[in-house]
Amino acid sequence: MNNLLTKHILGGLENREKFQIDLLEWFDSHQRDLPWRNNSSLYKTVISEFMLQQTRVTTVIPYFENWIEKFPDFKSLASAKEEEVLKAWEGLGYYSRARNLHKLSKIVSTWDSFPTDAKSWQSLPGIGPYIAAAITSISFNQTEAVCDGNVVRVLTRILACGEQFKDGSVAQKKLRPHAQKLLNIQRPGDYNQALMELGAIVCHRQSPSCTTCPVQVYCTSGKQGDPERFPVLAKKKKSFQKIKRFWIESNDSLLLQKPKEGENKLVGIYELPKGIELEISKKGKILAVKKRTIGQVEFEESIYLTSLTQECDLNRYNMEWIKWENLNNITLSGPHRKWIEELK
Ligand code: ADE
Repeated sequence: MNNLLTKHILGGLENREKFQIDLLEWFDSHQRDLPWRNNSSLYKTVISEFMLQQTRVTTVIPYFENWIEKFPDFKSLASAKEEEVLKAWEGLGYYSRARNLHKLSKIVSTWDSFPTDAKSWQSLPGIGPYIAAAITSISFNQTEAVCDGNVVRVLTRILACGEQFKDGSVAQKKLRPHAQKLLNIQRPGDYNQALMELGAIVCHRQSPSCTTCPVQVYCTSGKQGDPERFPVLAKKKKSFQKIKRFWIESNDSLLLQKPKEGENKLVGIYELPKGIELEISKKGKILAVKKRTIGQVEFEESIYLTSLTQECDLNRYNMEWIKWENLNNITLSGPHRKWIEELK
């Protein structure tokens, strides 16, 4: 692994410089027109990079635009209520990102100036090595290489790196030194974005478009004709989980559950209730069976039509009657909102 780059054509300084120029020229003429790249600012970069973690560009765009309209700067975000912040994030998933952004904005909006180094940014909520490198290279021209999933894919293919990694985050850690060595130090922010952009629109996971790739001449696996073999990630065991959820209506309301602090990642986000088997009068008929995969877990969620027992304690299960007319004012988990729309 360590000498992968030394043995490669990019091990030579001259080739490395040519590679960087080719990549940057391609980026200058082919980059997508994305809302955070127009009139770019530190705030827009921070918001977009938080949203882009684990989420595709096409999904992020409308959320980003709505967010900037609602919270145009750190100060307005800092003074917003948590419910408003979560509501604007509804459907993007991984809600800890929204909570961390909110916390971060409360901290930085008291500052007179921003630190420019990655280490200081990493001390803020929700900021790991990837986001710190992205923010400081894009906004402050710091020579910090980003190494996300896209970059791992591009680099392992260029280097034909056949080492098996336990998972994506191990691969990112291992490849970061190579990414750093290949970084263009005149335009580190553009270079980082160029590599991510290449991974997103050319070097696809499946069927990469090698014929339109601006750096194909440097790509060992492209020349070998087997780019899809890389990166080599260990196969993960999938697990399967069945969940029972309950659809309980009164005249004008639906019963929903809001997990409490420490219970799971969806704190503050409403869902159809589960785990209330002892509080219902009968299990009732199944209205729908929904399947989805989160990470390595396949979920099968059956939604039962039922009613509550007389003695049921709503508080104990963090349940609330939500009037139909108020359903749009609360933050519902994205899939649950779809299910409810479908079943109501
Ligand atoms: N993915 C995450 N951040 C990105 C960026 N700034 N440009 C392109 N893709 C990205």
